[in-house]
Amino acid sequence: MKESLHRETDDLEFAWSSKTPEKLRNYLVSGIQDPRSNLQSILTRHFFIRQLFGSQFEQLERQELLHAMKLNSDPASEEQKSEFQRRWRAALAPRTAQSVSVLEAACGSANDYRFLDSYGVARFLDYSGFDLSADNIANARDMFPAIAFQRGNVFEIPHQNESIDFVLAFDLFEHLSLEGLEAALEEVCRVARRGLVLNFFNVDDIAEHVPNPVTERRYHWNTLSLKKVTASLAERARAMEVVHIRGMALEKFQSHAVFGSFLDELNPNLFTIFVRK
Ligand SMILES: C[S@@+](CC[C@H](N)C(=O)[O-])C[C@H]1O[C@@H](n2cnc3c(N)ncnc32)[C@H](O)[C@@H]1O
Repeated sequence: MKESLHRETDDLEFAWSSKTPEKLRNYLVSGIQDPRSNLQSILTRHFFIRQLFGSQFEQLERQELLHAMKLNSDPASEEQKSEFQRRWRAALAPRTAQSVSVLEAACGSANDYRFLDSYGVARFLDYSGFDLSADNIANARDMFPAIAFQRGNVFEIPHQNESIDFVLAFDLFEHLSLEGLEAALEEVCRVARRGLVLNFFNVDDIAEHVPNPVTERRYHWNTLSLKKVTASLAERARAMEVVHIRGMALEKFQSHAVFGSFLDELNPNLFTIFVRK
């Protein structure tokens, strides 16, 4: 790894060590980030369900998206928030499938894995996750002692080329320097055999990336150019599907007046990119 990436790694470790283990365990799975109602988390689970079962569960997928819009628009009880957890578990319980391997980069405290597990999807996945933060990995192992959660660095992933079916990431790339971004995209594409699911929170339809170093936190909060990110991925992949989350939600649900204020406020810079190798 280049010296500049070693230095950035030290900065990123500092950046993500400022939160207590307790905070790390909870803050990215509540409110708008709650994977039960977060549209990117839901689309990611649906992606894996489709890899495993094709389009058999299309109707349940549509119903879950509609339910998530309701959860995002109105106060909801814990029971309402967990309704699709129960429904997916019941739907998937009698099923068998050939498992696929998944590596999650920057998995946090098993933030999304918890819901792959509770929705009954994880048992079909040969899942492993890594994160730079030792506290996140300790939290993840505490919750899931049997799952391979390891400390690791996206700049140097300790896996062979094309050794994992699917690589997954949420909310990582905007926090890296532009050099780090390219190194990370190179690495996640290198180890993926069939594809990747990459979730972004700050991508825009602009010509160039806008770097924004947050010096006191020693990380970045960049605005990434969709054109540049997709060009970079196109060099390493066969095809990709770009989902603009707000655009997708407007297309499906604009006619439901009750979702108006959620749609107005939904972050327009959320993108999920499904990459086919
Ligand atoms: C915004 S959090 C997202 C966590 C999780 N993916 C989620 O969406 O809830 C960013 C995560 O990236 C991890 N991270 C930062 N730099 C990293 C690196 N170079 N390699 C691996 N993980 C890194 C941090 O420790 C942190 O857990």
